[in-house]
Amino acid sequence: MIVSAYVFADGVEFAPDAIGAAAQALRAGQLIGLPTETVYGLGADADNATAVAAIFAAKGRPSDHPLIVHVASFDGGMSGVSHYATRVPSFAQQLMSAFWPGPLTLILPRRDAVGAAAAGGHNTIGLRCPEHPVAQAVLSALRQPTNGEPVVWGVAAPSANRFGRVSPTTAQHVAGEFADQKDLLILDGGPCDVGIESTIIDCTRGAPVLLRPGAITAEQVEAACGRPLISPEELEAQGQQTPRASGTLESHYAPNATVRLMDARALQQALDMLGRDVDKASPGGASIAVYARTPLKISSRSIEHRCMPSDPAVAAHELFSVLRELDALRVKLIWVEEPPVGSAWDGVRDRLVRASA
Ligand code: TXA
Ligand code: MG
Repeated sequence: MIVSAYVFADGVEFAPDAIGAAAQALRAGQLIGLPTETVYGLGADADNATAVAAIFAAKGRPSDHPLIVHVASFDGGMSGVSHYATRVPSFAQQLMSAFWPGPLTLILPRRDAVGAAAAGGHNTIGLRCPEHPVAQAVLSALRQPTNGEPVVWGVAAPSANRFGRVSPTTAQHVAGEFADQKDLLILDGGPCDVGIESTIIDCTRGAPVLLRPGAITAEQVEAACGRPLISPEELEAQGQQTPRASGTLESHYAPNATVRLMDARALQQALDMLGRDVDKASPGGASIAVYARTPLKISSRSIEHRCMPSDPAVAAHELFSVLRELDALRVKLIWVEEPPVGSAWDGVRDRLVRASA
């Protein structure tokens, strides 16, 4: 059930009933669809092991794959962090001051008694203070209960998609993913601004380790904490075990269609080879789609063509909805032009490489 988080009367305001209903559902141990600035999450009270187990079941996600816990922003996220984490290294403090609330997740050492199910049993916990006003309204309602209810410190929320599939960036995407769960409350906070999941930095290794690239780039992280980022590969070379992150599995973020990444020349060659034969081969609609920045010569009428924006932030914003839209058209193949080099494109490139694996 999709419920608008806003009322549109004179200007835009929160719908207090919708925020209240979401907070109430979370307190009662239910799941909700929660908008954040990155992607929509499937949320539950992070300290309620039964509710957290329901997230893993709904997603079909292995229960040892840890979830991100979202905390309220009114004190810079600090009280939420102290509830879940034991030690915050100074470089992690600097990252919180620079980027919270925002699309950055920090992995920190976990307090023994809290969030074990959300952390998938690991002794670390992933924490994020989201910027989306609707997410913050829910988180702050949970922290300031009105009727003597217990405080809820954080909301565990992985992306609201079935395991391995494309993350949702609208409330309608979430409803499509969990169509069988008719009474799932999905708060509609509009399309997500960022469009790809948060940057994840492991802060438990003595130095910051980049686990997942996102809208906040490696350079921005290094500039904010004045230290070089280490890659999981470098850690492994030092003989250290690297943390598991399902978002970093080789194949992830996959649409139903097969994704192939090519440079513009290879893409044009493939199109030339196809010629017009494809029109005869697919009378019922397009079976191939092209998503590219470079202008291409496409002679067939039955190839779906979408232009990839040349601004990496705009490309990230629309990436998952384009993949979903092409899936809805039932194309079999999506030929994607490789993003340009440079860290501003790392997040988009990472998702495309995994979608094509
Ligand atoms: O933008 C986002 O991060 C979105 C929104 C909803 O906040 N959430 C999201 O969650 O992408 P999810 O579960 O789809 O991806 C979380 C990633 C996974 O790859 C998980 O393995 C990793 O974070 N992660 C979470 N806690 C961790 C921990 N303690 N140690 C290592 N990796 C962790
Ligand atoms: Mg995910």
